[in-house]
Amino acid sequence: MTDSTLDIFIRECREKIAGSQYPADCVEKIAPSMYRLLNGDKSFLKPEHFRSDPEHYERNAIYIDDNDTLSLFALVWLPGQWTPIHDHGTWGVVGVLEGTLEERNLIRVDPQGEDALENIELVRGGVILLSAGAVTSFVPNPDHIHITGNGDQQKKVVSLHLYGIAMAGFHIYDKEARTRKWVEVGYNES
Ligand SMILES: [Fe+2]
Repeated sequence: MTDSTLDIFIRECREKIAGSQYPADCVEKIAPSMYRLLNGDKSFLKPEHFRSDPEHYERNAIYIDDNDTLSLFALVWLPGQWTPIHDHGTWGVVGVLEGTLEERNLIRVDPQGEDALENIELVRGGVILLSAGAVTSFVPNPDHIHITGNGDQQKKVVSLHLYGIAMAGFHIYDKEARTRKWVEVGYNES
């Protein structure tokens, strides 16, 4: 049996991570692989990867590495579903399979170290609209802070999210209270 496009993608990611010194190297090398994955044979995607929930955007695991260095999820966003303001604690490469994913960036401008949980000052940054086939990425230190979601009133969005860890949680931010806290995030197994 020949390798699927997912097998090839995961193998390429492992090789590129091993050959990278910094997170920015990882995303620079992996972004073209994500682009090929999005725009090639997608038969590796199964019906369970497209599960949605009317209450919140849904996270469906596609691949989670045993040694906590790589995870790939399909996220399904029904109209009007958004994340809270959050960071990631790692690098990530995101590609859109279907619909238009919207990202609203925030920039942290307080002078404290990254570990602070209070007196956090965020200002609004730019907005990005990503249509099917497009790829974006982010790196930590300083951490990338944003909200992501589906601003469309009718169409759902499906996107692939690759992270440099198993991605079991992140910090969510309360912009008005100027605080952040760690939350665990769940997902559906494949
Ligand atoms: Fe995010």
